[in-house]
Amino acid sequence: MIVAVDGPSASGKGTLARRLAMALGLAYLDTGQIYRAVASKVLAAGKDPADPAAAVAAARALSADDLTRPDLRAEHVSQAASIVAAIPAVREALLGFQRSFANEPPADAEGVVLDGRDIGTVVCPEAEAKLFVTASPEVRAQRRHEELIARGADSIYARVLEDMKERDRRDESRAVAPSRPAPDALVLDTSSLDPDEVFETALAFIRQRCGL
Ligand code: DC
Repeated sequence: MIVAVDGPSASGKGTLARRLAMALGLAYLDTGQIYRAVASKVLAAGKDPADPAAAVAAARALSADDLTRPDLRAEHVSQAASIVAAIPAVREALLGFQRSFANEPPADAEGVVLDGRDIGTVVCPEAEAKLFVTASPEVRAQRRHEELIARGADSIYARVLEDMKERDRRDESRAVAPSRPAPDALVLDTSSLDPDEVFETALAFIRQRCGL
């Protein structure tokens, strides 16, 4: 059983995907972490994330340890992740790992929840249930801004909004695997829904799709 949860950053897709995996007893993979790890590795090597050779080399050399690099959630790594993610050969290099995880879940899980941008369209088009979680850029920027402040970081709302729009533009307009809902995905706009409502709606949809 494969559940695909796609959507832009700060849409709430990560929280939802984790909660769904827990409730359904499924393994969980945050595919954004993989792109972030590639970006972090490129930056640590002093290379340009837009350089295809450097980005592909980092993607091919990725190890499990890279997924725990300390700077993965930093804003500069978010931007760099979106840049490496637009390089087709990088996406190609990361496809096998994501598909193996989906088809052979770790331990004794009976299935998986993957979250990302192209899970329902490219990585697992055969997924039984597909969700696309979104919210307005203003709402998402406000959430990210509050998260940064809570972490004790300096944050300016207008700057966060601008960065978010830039990343959305790049993720949605790239030639390969642009971020968009699969035709058979349930689109959930979380702008005015609380996390419990989102979770209950998503769970009911998955149960119906998977005959649970
Ligand atoms: O979900 P996130 O914000 O952690 O993702 C970081 C970047 O990685 C995002 O800007 C787009 C890219 N990404 C992608 O292209 N495809 C995925 N399946 C997951 C993330």
